[in-house]
Amino acid sequence: MKQINLTINNQLVVAEPGETILQAAKRIGIAIPTLCNREDLITKGNCRVCSVEVEGEARLMAACETSVIDGMRVHTDSKRVLTARKTIVEMLLSAHNRECTCCEKTKACQLQKIADDLEILDERYPLVYIEDFRKEYNALLVREPDKCIKCGRCVDVCSYMQYTYALGMLGRGYNTCADFSKKDDIDASGCIGCGKCAEACPTGAIYPNKHLTSLWLAIDDPNKFVVMYMLREAPFDLGDTAGLKEEISLPINKAIGFFKDIGIDVVLDATRAVCLCAKQREEEFYTIQESDDGEIPLLTSDNPSVFRFLEKHKNKLRGQLSMTPTPMQLMGTYIKTYYSQKLGLEPENIITVAITDDLSNKLEVDRPVTEKSMDIVLFNDEIPVLVAQTMVDLNTIKPKEFDQIFMQIPESNNKKSNIIVFNDPEEVCAWITLSTEGNDN
Ligand code: SF4
Ligand code: SF4
Ligand code: FES
Repeated sequence: MKQINLTINNQLVVAEPGETILQAAKRIGIAIPTLCNREDLITKGNCRVCSVEVEGEARLMAACETSVIDGMRVHTDSKRVLTARKTIVEMLLSAHNRECTCCEKTKACQLQKIADDLEILDERYPLVYIEDFRKEYNALLVREPDKCIKCGRCVDVCSYMQYTYALGMLGRGYNTCADFSKKDDIDASGCIGCGKCAEACPTGAIYPNKHLTSLWLAIDDPNKFVVMYMLREAPFDLGDTAGLKEEISLPINKAIGFFKDIGIDVVLDATRAVCLCAKQREEEFYTIQESDDGEIPLLTSDNPSVFRFLEKHKNKLRGQLSMTPTPMQLMGTYIKTYYSQKLGLEPENIITVAITDDLSNKLEVDRPVTEKSMDIVLFNDEIPVLVAQTMVDLNTIKPKEFDQIFMQIPESNNKKSNIIVFNDPEEVCAWITLSTEGNDN
């Protein structure tokens, strides 16, 4: 295929047909700021922050959606581009509640970063943001519509990566905002609680609910026994959220020592819950197969949002859905049942604290798949905040080992099972397409 020659800031670039100016510039190390565009998303052209000058064109072009053309001459840092970019960001800020010092996303907000880079210090345009403030929807999601810059990323992720179409761009004019398609009713909107919208949002308009306040309340309550568990051996990345000058990680044994120092009673390794979960699924499958009461293959996932996706959006497959909880849920149940008996404690006096790298576990606090087993769910990102809150000197922490818990895993009987474990809604949809094609033949 014929290659394309162009210049960006007077540097010769050889590009592939179909590439955008943004992609070609990135390849030669020229950074163009973006807000709505992300490599894995289809969203582009909404924010205009990536505007560049193309010789011969009257208008500035959005680098994220403009394809390269042979002989094109592009400028990403001309006076015209920088002035326009600054105006665009100033206008975004005028429709945004700029309370950066008390914003959840401060230091991680991409709008704040671009405004800092462009040295925007004053309010040149009157503030006209939507008067709709912080809403805590559930244990997973918090929204602040007054910080929505209408970039569309959350809608894109929700619709085209999670296949749920729970979010849409609602309202008119400056009142436009990403919102649930059935306003204020997440459930009716079909949200599966995956948290991907919160991960995609570049500002503080939608973000994961932190459970640190509940954690401190549990630690301070003398009647509660706090049991923490996690599925990890890797260190915790503390970044600079903990006020550290350089990237630093907390080795797992030091992390256990830290958790115990702040008042967690027991810290458990949940790895064996993965094996137990696999065995329980097998048992469930054999029971269905032998009793001929139920449909196979058995469908399951380690991710609770995939269960919710199957339940809410693929209703016809409900009969094939496994009753075995995910490993994190199973571990919580194990602690509330077997372990509470061993300790001689009532399950309601045990507070389980799961640490996870999957946001979708947070919704288990409100909506467990089976019985309530998870009380507090901390996302990995909350650990640096927890460390910062204690103002602990990391050098003084004494490393500790996981506490031991006995989990009996049944022997494998080597029978053949037919269980499909999905990682995300995309895999569910791909499997349905393949199964349907198979039926047609
Ligand atoms: S949590 Fe997932 S399903 Fe719900 S709105 Fe966000 S992206 Fe969509
Ligand atoms: S909520 Fe966030 S991701 Fe969604 S449109 Fe608003 S700013 Fe963009
Ligand atoms: S990043 Fe290109 S228009 Fe938003």
